[in-house]
Amino acid sequence: MTITHIGILVADLESAREHWSRATGFPFSPISRYRPPNWSDHGSPEPHLHDARLTFCLGDNPSIEILEFVGTGTHSPGKGEGGHHLSFPPLADNEARRRELAAAGLGIDGEFRIDGRLVFQFAEAGPLDNVYTEWVEEHPGHPDVKDDLSPVDRLPDGTKALFDVALGGRREPSGIVEFGVRVHDLGKSVALWSRVIGRTFSSSVSSSSSVSSSVSSSVSQGPGAAVRLVPAGQPHERPGLFSVTMEVADLDATRARLLAAGVPLSLVPGVEVDAGFLNGLTLRFRGRPG
Ligand SMILES: [Fe+2]
Repeated sequence: MTITHIGILVADLESAREHWSRATGFPFSPISRYRPPNWSDHGSPEPHLHDARLTFCLGDNPSIEILEFVGTGTHSPGKGEGGHHLSFPPLADNEARRRELAAAGLGIDGEFRIDGRLVFQFAEAGPLDNVYTEWVEEHPGHPDVKDDLSPVDRLPDGTKALFDVALGGRREPSGIVEFGVRVHDLGKSVALWSRVIGRTFSSSVSSSSSVSSSVSSSVSQGPGAAVRLVPAGQPHERPGLFSVTMEVADLDATRARLLAAGVPLSLVPGVEVDAGFLNGLTLRFRGRPG
């Protein structure tokens, strides 16, 4: 399965949107809300209104979604800032996916239905190294509204436009080629990740900004952005999504752009935005091969 977006949870959506835009070089959508009236999660199992403010990166395949803390469960401040979920293309049958997740040992934490149809669910994050996976069904009733609660704009064909309608739905590739996930038990994580996302993993060696030496990791094969599972350097390091890697045509030009935009860079070889600027996530750039 290809990854359609990474979800990042933050305390202050406005400042995160501004920082991520400066760091990636892409505009982000006007802030909108996703408001299921009957959301249920482990924090509040009784169906209730879930009012999630969010913004998407104009760069796509995959994109970046930034979400603001809300509620007492899946999006609560207790989750902390940083990488939150990975999302996948819409499914024809979300109930079937749920059965497959259950067979892999993953329960559900966060869901809602429209007319009985399971249009949205998160598989629980804990077993998958603190990463939620987001599974959706295509449905015209997905509850998107503008930040002021007015209806979202529509393109001439009726599809929702979270970005300026003048763009006509056109979005360029983000250049994101990899998401890094810190794990505690590489063998166990490889087995579960490959089962959940349907990709094979191969051993790899990657340099890490948190340790001076190289570490062996495991990277998913197949189309679209990869998932790289990286063993935690220290037992206390929290598992989870910790890095995004983007390919760019000209690495020197990217470095110059970042410096001109006042984006703080890490003191490591290569071009890497300091995690403190991006809600705890590291954004790495690498030159496009060829
Ligand atoms: Fe999402």
